[in-house]
Amino acid sequence: MTMEFTDRVSRVEPSATLAISALATELENEGADVVDLSVGEPDFPTPENIVEAGKAAMDAGHTGYTTSAGILELREAIADKLAADGLEHTTDEIIVTPGAKQALYEIVQALVEDGDEVVLLDPAWVSYEAMVKMAGGDLTRVDLAETDFQLEPALDDLEAAVSDETELLVVNSPSNPTGAVYSDAALEGVRDLAVEHDITVISDEIYKEITYGVEPTSLGTLEGMADRTVTVNGFSKAYSMTGWRLGYFAGPEDLIDQAGKLHSHSVSSAVNFVQHAGLEALETEEPVAEMVDAFEDRRDLVVDLLDDHGVDVAEPEGAFYMMVPVDDDDQAWCEGAIEDAHVATVPGSAFGTPGYARISYAASAERLEEGIERLAEEGYL
Ligand SMILES: Cc1ncc(COP(=O)(O)O)c(C=O)c1O
Repeated sequence: MTMEFTDRVSRVEPSATLAISALATELENEGADVVDLSVGEPDFPTPENIVEAGKAAMDAGHTGYTTSAGILELREAIADKLAADGLEHTTDEIIVTPGAKQALYEIVQALVEDGDEVVLLDPAWVSYEAMVKMAGGDLTRVDLAETDFQLEPALDDLEAAVSDETELLVVNSPSNPTGAVYSDAALEGVRDLAVEHDITVISDEIYKEITYGVEPTSLGTLEGMADRTVTVNGFSKAYSMTGWRLGYFAGPEDLIDQAGKLHSHSVSSAVNFVQHAGLEALETEEPVAEMVDAFEDRRDLVVDLLDDHGVDVAEPEGAFYMMVPVDDDDQAWCEGAIEDAHVATVPGSAFGTPGYARISYAASAERLEEGIERLAEEGYL
């Protein structure tokens, strides 16, 4: 039989990053030593105390369903964490999800319908576009490449892009893929536009805990933003828990009620014992600080190495990515880099910004040195 597929899924393209990982796997299967700078996850193991808490929770029998929104203790701990960042939310305004990605999916499904206008700041994390398209929304994209990926000098462009028709704006600071942390003045500019045009804003703060010498402000703390901001965070990056699948979102209660229906009819809840491990994670400070220190050293290393080869990058202040200017045809550059130098990176066009490649420095100093050396030797730098 011939299956008929929905417009919803047909609208979405397979991720451009898949082509690169398929090439990497093919080369590795042939025995090549590939330096993989394409991955979006910390290269550290999950801190031992968190692993132990997960095991203990399993042993204690925390293996059944939980309340759909997540165990109360975890939502209380999340409310406390948010309060420490200046965001006031009751436990009824928080849903714990299997990863921040599921949180974002539920928010977009609850807010965006056919023809709704959604604004992204480019380069933007790959899944925002797919989620909006699947919901039937139309995208307006504001390019930050001309302003070294900073939002403050591009506020005029954002102003020109939004209108009373804009339903949703997505802000991700620290940003994947640029590592930019937006200034308070930039966020105030966002606030002014959101209030003027009555726009809901998603503040994706999944890299908030990974910054170098700057304290990112949570958008929802700004005056006028509490009732129009949905704050998303998760455990994957700060606690190196990508495979555990744990995240959350907090927002106005009516949004939580609507998104909660989607949540309960799709995933039911996040995994029970993983939520208990999450409680331990929120108490974990030292291993997080050590990982952040390591990322900062690696950022400095990569910026210096690139500089040695005459490549100037916008220095990231958070997350563990940077955008490296490459050929206009960034897809061809990335394919060539992996074939010739055996170094995997992600084309900027996957994030809406051609002419760049994203490298992740969540890799050891030795591998980073090796990767950049090979790129230079093969004429890619
Ligand atoms: C900007 C951003 N948001 C959300 C996510 C989703 O993370 P997870 O679903 O692992 O919590 C990622 C992961 O790469 C990301 O980079």
